Amino acid sequence: MDSIPANRRLWNQISSAYQHEHDPQIGAAPRLWGMYSIPDEHLNALGDVTGKRVLELGCGAGQWSGALVAEGADVVGIDLSEAQLAAAARAMGAARYPLVQGAAEHLPFADDSFDLVFCDFGGLSWAPPHLAVPQAARVLRRGGRLVFNVASPWFEACYDETAARVTTTLQKDYFGLNTIAEDDGAISYQLTYGGWVRVLRGAGLVIDDLIEPRPDAATPNGYNETDPPDWGHRWPAELLWVTHKP
Ligand SMILES: C[S@@+](CC[C@H](N)C(=O)[O-])C[C@H]1O[C@@H](n2cnc3c(N)ncnc32)[C@H](O)[C@@H]1O
Repeated sequence: MDSIPANRRLWNQISSAYQHEHDPQIGAAPRLWGMYSIPDEHLNALGDVTGKRVLELGCGAGQWSGALVAEGADVVGIDLSEAQLAAAARAMGAARYPLVQGAAEHLPFADDSFDLVFCDFGGLSWAPPHLAVPQAARVLRRGGRLVFNVASPWFEACYDETAARVTTTLQKDYFGLNTIAEDDGAISYQLTYGGWVRVLRGAGLVIDDLIEPRPDAATPNGYNETDPPDWGHRWPAELLWVTHKP
């Protein structure tokens, strides 16, 4: 299935409203992960990027990329959507970095060219993992790391489409998640835990950690309504994979 045209269309359509709603949260401080804006310094997922060659896979408006450039990384941001890339270009300050339009499924970069490939609900949520993970592994140099977060299968399986909220009831089959229908024919992707392990190991990556970020009970989910409000404190809403290419 080729979800590139529909996903590009969706992100072009929603970019402006999405940035209006979420940029204040995403860009409130450097290095905030996921739906609960958990600081990387609490999770220790990314490490020191000074002098590293970094690819952000699905960089959106570049809140992460800009922050890492300011820390001394040599960053490239790739995204499918020209509207999202335009938002990144507008937001770029003195810390400049190249933006590339392209898909996580077909990365336009040479083998072994990055020390770190990462995303925060980016290309690995919006491209088929069995295509995007091998591409990320290909462009990593030996010793380089792939670090990314996605929604957890728990979160997806408990999401009630009709009520538009995450619940405490299983709404969907765990084994049937795979593709998730988004607005206007767009598609996001989710694997089982075993599926992620197989796709990461199958691409030759070593899994160093699977971080399950846990927000405080009072921290709101900035993207989805949850019932109860402290859902993410009680169950894992996100998976943050930390891997490297041996
Ligand atoms: C939720 S945003 C992630 C960016 C940023 N971290 C954020 O939270 O806003 C998802 C991004 O993935 C991009 N995207 C969607 N499909 C993609 C694909 N196949 N390859 C690369 N980027 C893609 C979208 O255009 C969008 O900018």
